Amino acid sequence: ICDDDFIRGLPKAELHLHLEGSLEPDLLFQLAARNGVEIGYDTVESLRAAYSFESLQDFLDLYYQGMSVLLTQEDFHDLTLAYMTRAAEDGVRHVEVFFDPQAHLDRGVALKTVLDGIESGLAEGKRAFGISSGLILCFLRHLDEASALAVLEQAAPYSHRLLGVGLDSSENGHPPSKFSRVFARAGAMGLKRVAHAGEEGPPDYVWQALDQLGIDRIDHGNRALEDPLLVERLRRDQMALTVCPLSNLKLKVVRDMAEHPLRRMLDLDLQATVNSDDPAYFGGYVADNYRAVQQALGLSREHLAKLARNSFTASFLDRAEKASAI
Ligand code: HPA
Ligand code: ZN
Repeated sequence: ICDDDFIRGLPKAELHLHLEGSLEPDLLFQLAARNGVEIGYDTVESLRAAYSFESLQDFLDLYYQGMSVLLTQEDFHDLTLAYMTRAAEDGVRHVEVFFDPQAHLDRGVALKTVLDGIESGLAEGKRAFGISSGLILCFLRHLDEASALAVLEQAAPYSHRLLGVGLDSSENGHPPSKFSRVFARAGAMGLKRVAHAGEEGPPDYVWQALDQLGIDRIDHGNRALEDPLLVERLRRDQMALTVCPLSNLKLKVVRDMAEHPLRRMLDLDLQATVNSDDPAYFGGYVADNYRAVQQALGLSREHLAKLARNSFTASFLDRAEKASAI
């Protein structure tokens, strides 16, 4: 069988996927028309042409603009089901999705609207494709602690519907330490904790995420490799890293895929996984990410199978579920 079929055929868990970042230009235009939202681009092609980024912030500006078409429960349902449909084609069997409620609350969309729409999309994806799922509520780190605490309190009645909390948006200048009390509270609510760290930010932000936020998994983590003591800590604890190769290339975290640290992470015995981050913006879903690193880094089929197994090991499925998935 060819490499494409091999990659798609590997059962995978996707652990780093921003639902709002799976909003494809076609659906974005449909929702803009349905909701009468002006988006400032005339055609799908002109919008796609704008997807060229110099940095994380450059991308985030367009990402927040794009999600302004998401207003109703139906919008969130359609967005979620479109992702599940596409993920099924890539062999995704389980997904732990991120969403950014503060970016919707600030536009007058209620948390319940967002949650109900996403959940019905996930439920339909489970029925249609057999993909299991969990939800991770992310705090926007460019906003303040009070805003994060407020959304966490608002989410408290729905905490049984959440797997965990995460931390995303502009990294530099917004260290994990800013949210230590928020994450302590989330932990006390029985929620898992993850955080973006070491994407653009320094190794110190990864240390803070571990020691001050008590995280269960690191999103990205690329720059951890600059600090040998940190590498040893991650290796010893088998702390999972949710790595996103095409995202790293598009946001210029790496200059060239051949320089991507994923191969080094595997050689260092780190618990690395491959994910798509914001597939509508970065030009590929999860199988495209596997393919990109395979080609650029010369990964063997054993490497690819290890990455796919890691994705279940690093998931928040329970032991029995992991064992039956692998
Ligand atoms: N990094 C930080 N914030 C984000 C990302 C990312 O890759 N995608 C969506 N929000
Ligand atoms: Zn991300």
